Amino acid sequence: MFCEELRKIRLVPVVVIEDAAQATPLAEAIVSGGLSCVEITLRTDEALTALGTMAARLDLQVGAGTVLTLGQAKAAVDRGARFIVSPGMSPSLVDWCLARQIPVIPGCATATEIQLALERGLDIVKFFPAEQLGGVKMLATLAAVFQNMHFMPTGGISPGNLLDYLALPQVVACGGSWLVRTNWLREKRFDDIRREIARAVELLETGVRNDHD
Ligand code: 3PG
Repeated sequence: MFCEELRKIRLVPVVVIEDAAQATPLAEAIVSGGLSCVEITLRTDEALTALGTMAARLDLQVGAGTVLTLGQAKAAVDRGARFIVSPGMSPSLVDWCLARQIPVIPGCATATEIQLALERGLDIVKFFPAEQLGGVKMLATLAAVFQNMHFMPTGGISPGNLLDYLALPQVVACGGSWLVRTNWLREKRFDDIRREIARAVELLETGVRNDHD
């Protein structure tokens, strides 16, 4: 179910936010750029507050990323996170989410980890770190073996390889930090963020990237 929602979304900006005051203009930039989903990584002190602010919007699905502990997962869900993403395959984290019907996307880098996710009943994992692991070729090889699994590759995704990943039928969406650069956030360059997102949406829709607007 969540997998099918992600297939419509196709692209999930991965955000490191240092100042919760940036949450409102960031949400606006993402939505006005044309996307409806975001992953807020729990790597900063203000991430949970920012997540809560953004999750209040009805036009934005906000998930928590870099979730390493059950305590983090609970805190994120309490603040409105719609889904949980983790860098690795933690059976206890996955079970916690499944018991509460919270969509969870664990990171998997090997066949063994994908098999663990499959045993838990999951139908989607994050292939992470995608480019460093061998990119589209590696993922295509794993996907051929795990035919009922779906993937959200993340790590090294860019406008240059996004469409190659999405061309794999089992890839429902890609995650990437290039859409919301941390230094752009720091410098409050929300217009640059909106423009970068709009370019990526255009790339998804037309297969062509326009760098000149
Ligand atoms: C992350 O969790 O930071 C993701 O791996 C993002 O990777 P990227 O910076 O290569 O997009």
